Amino acid sequence: MPKQSKIQSKEPSVGFDLVEVARFKDLAKAKTMSNVFTARELKDCQQKQNPAESLASRFAAKEAARKALQKNIKFNQIEIINQKNGSPQVNFLDKAIKEHYQSVVSLSHTKRVAGAVCILWQKKSKKK
Ligand SMILES: CC(C)(COP(=O)(O)OP(=O)(O)OC[C@H]1O[C@@H](n2cnc3c(N)ncnc32)[C@H](O)[C@@H]1OP(=O)(O)O)[C@@H](O)C(=O)NCCC(=O)NCCS
Repeated sequence: MPKQSKIQSKEPSVGFDLVEVARFKDLAKAKTMSNVFTARELKDCQQKQNPAESLASRFAAKEAARKALQKNIKFNQIEIINQKNGSPQVNFLDKAIKEHYQSVVSLSHTKRVAGAVCILWQKKSKKK
């Protein structure tokens, strides 16, 4: 497998991932796994119609963001939150990544599978 490196170009980068919802069924009950999900994600997903599906799609989004970023940052440093209209967005908790990258994400889930796509690009550097 090629060694992963930081994105060098300013072209947008895309990541996509699919996961089985069944992997998250127990987790949805346990309300734990802080090395993967943030407290906010766990709280948000518990309030969803199907917590396992929402957790699974967030996990897929974290994987998709890591693919787009080409960097294996910790899962709990990539937070997926819903905006007021329900659309998801990535909140990078790593300050350096948050400062340098902008992203869009989309989630989809069924009873069996959840998927996410993430597009990421470098922010324009501010002129001093
Ligand atoms: C809302 C909508 C995305 C749901 O689609 P769906 O096929 O039933 O469900 P999917 O599994 O594909 O997608 C669900 C995910 O879509 C995302 N989503 C919700 N509202 C969204 C929106 N307005 N725009 C983009 N994504 C949205 C969420 O991340 C949700 O998962 P989550 O609740 O776990 O965070 C779809 O109806 C849609 O795109 N509608 C257009 C926007 C819209 O009509 N908004 C409602 C205005 S009243």
